[in-house]
Amino acid sequence: MAARIRAFRPGDERALYEICLLTGASGADATGMYRDPNLLGEIYVGPYLRLAPSLAIVGEDETGVAGYALGVADTRAFEKACERDWWPPLRARHPHGSFPPGSPDDRLIRMIHNPPETSEDVVERYPAHLHIDLLPRLQGGGYGRRLLESLFDALLAAGVPSVHLGVGLANERAIAFYEHLGFTVVHRYTGSQIMARHL
Ligand SMILES: CC(C)(COP(=O)(O)OP(=O)(O)OC[C@H]1O[C@@H](n2cnc3c(N)ncnc32)[C@H](O)[C@@H]1OP(=O)(O)O)[C@@H](O)C(=O)NCCC(=O)NCCS
Repeated sequence: MAARIRAFRPGDERALYEICLLTGASGADATGMYRDPNLLGEIYVGPYLRLAPSLAIVGEDETGVAGYALGVADTRAFEKACERDWWPPLRARHPHGSFPPGSPDDRLIRMIHNPPETSEDVVERYPAHLHIDLLPRLQGGGYGRRLLESLFDALLAAGVPSVHLGVGLANERAIAFYEHLGFTVVHRYTGSQIMARHL
């Protein structure tokens, strides 16, 4: 099924939140994991669309929007803008203790209240960061590459020299894809790693 790559436009938000959930378990469907189907999108999609909509690119086929690449040019500035504009209303809507301690939803609520700060050595060398997710029907057809290359062009046009991303160690397929596209590991955590490349 042929798809096209285009800029994000208002009205796409719902589809992008759904894609985030449908790929949120190390690339597989996370629907059964979370009681609140919106939380993943509120962390990994919403702030990007609000704060950096010009770096949001989608893949769309006859059935609808089925993939996205989202970026920000300056990760530190983005973290500050989220602290000011994005997290406060979410924290008010999702207080601590809304879900059983240690549950997947509870872990996301904790992230909303205490979002991790990207380490200085990463943002110094690779100031931009990105997320990419495609529904299964769009995977394996070159659209992941095309979405990232469109995003790289937009970042270069904005004067950004390099980009990083975070990926769970369980998502072996995505790690191999990123390696194939020239990303290398620059920081390791217990269950995830940061990969990065120059543009
Ligand atoms: C990971 C993902 C973004 C890759 O996108 P994709 O559209 O499936 O990949 P493409 O078809 O564009 O592949 C691009 C290139 O990477 C290569 N590639 C893709 N997956 C690969 C893998 N697992 N190992 C090695 N090479 C791989 C392809 O062969 C292709 O090579 P070429 O362009 O040099 O011929 C996509 O599969 C996806 O969204 N998965 C589910 C969500 C997810 O895991 N997101 C990442 C969260 S961190």
